Amino acid sequence: MEKKLKSHGAWIGKWTFILAATGSAVGLGNIWGFPYKAGTNGGGAFVLIYLLCIVMIGVPIMISEIIIGRRAGNSPINAMKRTAMQSNTSPLWKLVGWSGITAGVLILSFYSVIAGICLNYIFIAALPSDALSSSDQFGAVIASPYNLLFWHTVFMLLTFLIVSAGVKNGIGRMVKILMPMLGFLLIFMVIYAMFNGAFIRTLEFLFAPDFSNVTAETFLSAMGQAFFSLSLGMGSIMAYGAYMPKDQKVVPTSFTVASLDTLVAMLAGLAIFPIIFAFNLEPNSGPGLVFVSMLSAFNQMQFGQIIGAFFFILLSIAALSSSISLLEPGVAYLSEEGFLSRKYSALAISFFAWSLGIGTALSFNVLSEFNLTPGRNFLDSMDFIANQILLPLGGMMIAIFVGWFMKKELITNEVGYVNQIIYKLWRFFIKFIAPISVASIFISQIL
Ligand code: PHE
Repeated sequence: MEKKLKSHGAWIGKWTFILAATGSAVGLGNIWGFPYKAGTNGGGAFVLIYLLCIVMIGVPIMISEIIIGRRAGNSPINAMKRTAMQSNTSPLWKLVGWSGITAGVLILSFYSVIAGICLNYIFIAALPSDALSSSDQFGAVIASPYNLLFWHTVFMLLTFLIVSAGVKNGIGRMVKILMPMLGFLLIFMVIYAMFNGAFIRTLEFLFAPDFSNVTAETFLSAMGQAFFSLSLGMGSIMAYGAYMPKDQKVVPTSFTVASLDTLVAMLAGLAIFPIIFAFNLEPNSGPGLVFVSMLSAFNQMQFGQIIGAFFFILLSIAALSSSISLLEPGVAYLSEEGFLSRKYSALAISFFAWSLGIGTALSFNVLSEFNLTPGRNFLDSMDFIANQILLPLGGMMIAIFVGWFMKKELITNEVGYVNQIIYKLWRFFIKFIAPISVASIFISQIL
């Protein structure tokens, strides 16, 4: 007998899912993470591997997560369990949901600290001080634990408030106008960079791959970034899939979301690196890259104070539409089981993530010398455990489940009508290519 679980309600209209899933996917991962990781990993080769991971691993897994989520209509833990039982296989597949929720909390903990820096930058951009260069400005922001903790707290509170209001009220509406605006502003920044920065050098840096420095680590980092950017491997998209209307087509929807996500990452790279090169800043300077480069541009630009503040407002909102999807799977689970109300579930999990976030905030200053895992400070360790281990592992298990264990009828029912060649291709990718690629990237790390 299956237990009756509380229902969360579905979204109306097909745009709501696309907007919410794009809202989840597009965030700091694209604008903060992608450029700085491409920068520290040498550029073009990383970008190429990243793109291959999006197409060969990311899109097939996104389709699978949506199928499982919508089929079951529950949080990732119960969705995995229920779909496994309906496929006559072990309910232990629910462990994939547990690993996802763990990854979500780890990610949320550092995500909120970085998003807090974005909130802080709204004011920094609006009131520029001539006394500091933009690198020194970033240095000053991260030097103060109180400052980082303050903004981390503000951001986490916002995330909590939206998730406790519920997916229908909180998520859909916000992304509708603001995400396209962010897109336009990024295009504007790319055009600005084209005329005022080292654009040709950027094109070479991002798109002319140099494989001489590629290591097993580059592959792992690019793959982790692909999972992170598409919000895959931890149940965010699965949780959102649960609210997707039954008549919406899964395959084209996944392509739309993945394309928009990739587009934003590329635009961010094209906006940031020309400035970095023109100002002789280091492309491999790490997590401060977007803040330092964009502030340098705004400081030079006419109306830079207004445009800059607006940019960081939109970036904070993009971060918020992602952070709520990090919190949602855990909250959906606790509340559908009836352990806690939605509000208290959101409070409990966000408080936990907030506490863990203190470690990240301190890793920029008082704990900067402290390594939580060998060679990695607190932020890098969280990022490494979540993005490069838990997400790819979760994604690989989802691929294996859908490829080898989930009942055929359940799958075809959910996929609905789709071109047979595309369907066969997807099956091939999900059965073989995705799991084998993830596994070999893991194995090459160990060797
Ligand atoms: N995809 C989001 C981003 O790029 C982050 C995220 C990861 C959100 C995993 C949900 C799940 O910013």
